[in-house]
Amino acid sequence: MITWGISANSHDAALAVFIDKNLTFASHSERFSRKKNDPDLCEKLVNYAAVEYGEPDQVVWYENPLLKTTRQLYAGQGLKNNNVSNYLKKFNIDAKIKYSWHHESHAAAGFYTSKFDNATILVMDAIGEWDCLSVWKATSSGMKKIYSQHYPHSIGLWYSAMTQRIDLKPNEEEYILMGMAAYGNPNKYFDRINNDFFYTGIDGWPKLKQNLHKGCLDWLPNLNTEEYFHIAAGTQEVYEFQLRKILNQVRLLAPNENLVFMGGCALNCSANHILFDYFKNVWIMPNPGDAGSAIGAVLAKTKSHIDWTGPFLGMSIEPKTPDEQIVKHLVKHKICGLARGPAEFGPRALGNRSLIADPRDPKTKQLVNDIKQRQHFRPFAPMILKEYASDYFNMPTRESPYMQYTAKCKYPEKFPAIIHKDQTSRVQTVGEDMPLIRKLLEVWYDKTGCPMLLNTSLNIKGEPMVNDKIDCMDFEKKYGVKVFN
Ligand SMILES: [Fe+2]
Repeated sequence: MITWGISANSHDAALAVFIDKNLTFASHSERFSRKKNDPDLCEKLVNYAAVEYGEPDQVVWYENPLLKTTRQLYAGQGLKNNNVSNYLKKFNIDAKIKYSWHHESHAAAGFYTSKFDNATILVMDAIGEWDCLSVWKATSSGMKKIYSQHYPHSIGLWYSAMTQRIDLKPNEEEYILMGMAAYGNPNKYFDRINNDFFYTGIDGWPKLKQNLHKGCLDWLPNLNTEEYFHIAAGTQEVYEFQLRKILNQVRLLAPNENLVFMGGCALNCSANHILFDYFKNVWIMPNPGDAGSAIGAVLAKTKSHIDWTGPFLGMSIEPKTPDEQIVKHLVKHKICGLARGPAEFGPRALGNRSLIADPRDPKTKQLVNDIKQRQHFRPFAPMILKEYASDYFNMPTRESPYMQYTAKCKYPEKFPAIIHKDQTSRVQTVGEDMPLIRKLLEVWYDKTGCPMLLNTSLNIKGEPMVNDKIDCMDFEKKYGVKVFN
């Protein structure tokens, strides 16, 4: 039985292939269409999945279109075309369709890829059909929703509105606001932001004072652009303050040692260390936003754990170059691209579609920034041999294989390329379960005595990550950086 899980027609479309109950392939549409955050499926992705793995016997869609329509009408967005069958037919997909619910797909993507046999699940995003926050109890017999907060009380929508308020793209550039936060004074606008937007409901949960679906561009109308870094810092501080309140409520409602955290808010790696103040064990599936729900929609139906071996689920490029040759190039040129093995499914490059560089060289940051054409304040992350992570960083957790947590560096002056303004780094720990990149790091360590490399995605600002060999050649030609297969 071939099942396709699909999340599309909103933002950042994705497709996952299950053969029986085994997750076999998953990719964002953008990697094939070459349109960043492509909201739609594309012919190239659909054809690839059909040719490589077979036409689907059934499709599971990641949300309930009828319920979504009711919310859109309530929100004054008019009658949208949410007919999934017609949508899929545009891509020649004509299989039986099943539907999971939006937050159910998020929750299932988290729980059934985790190692937990029981857990509390928290889902926080901008919006599902109606749910913006939900709490679930999960056991071996399934998942049960025990609390939810409806539109418009959405901390995710608020964070996106603040992103737009400082002239960034909502639903896309929230991570830039997060990076800007380290450059501002978090206290300058904390009270103003917190009091203008939030109150605590009689049930103890944070609520919003206004509906932010259409943004808050009229908030502080005379705000000078020089204040944007302080607004970013205040926004991040308020997010963390409200997250603590939420986690307190979650723990009272569903005490458990294990937390699964999902939804777009789980991408806030600066705040995620807070989760460990409330729960002993935490799992965030490495693609916790809507694209990851292509997997979650199917898991919500199968209701069984899969053997999660990592997010390397996309199109594969056969590795060819010996690691020694790549390291030799790195020592000489300080930087190179890597496009080897299956592509990552998720927003982070974790070594298979990465631009890597020497983190010790003071010139590296500028070099990488010039190639990637990014804002100067954006940080770069390190990938480090797992056993050395605690020697170099104050880690909130022993392992962080998917760059989901920031940690203070103990020797910031030695690694200027991977240190943010606040001396933190979004660390990727590399263990035996990532053999391709692990082997390269080991060779690099043998040669230099340095157990880490700078790791950033193999793309240019505004473009999707490299996917296939043709993209590699295009990247090399355009930007003059050697990309190794
Ligand atoms: Fe979502």
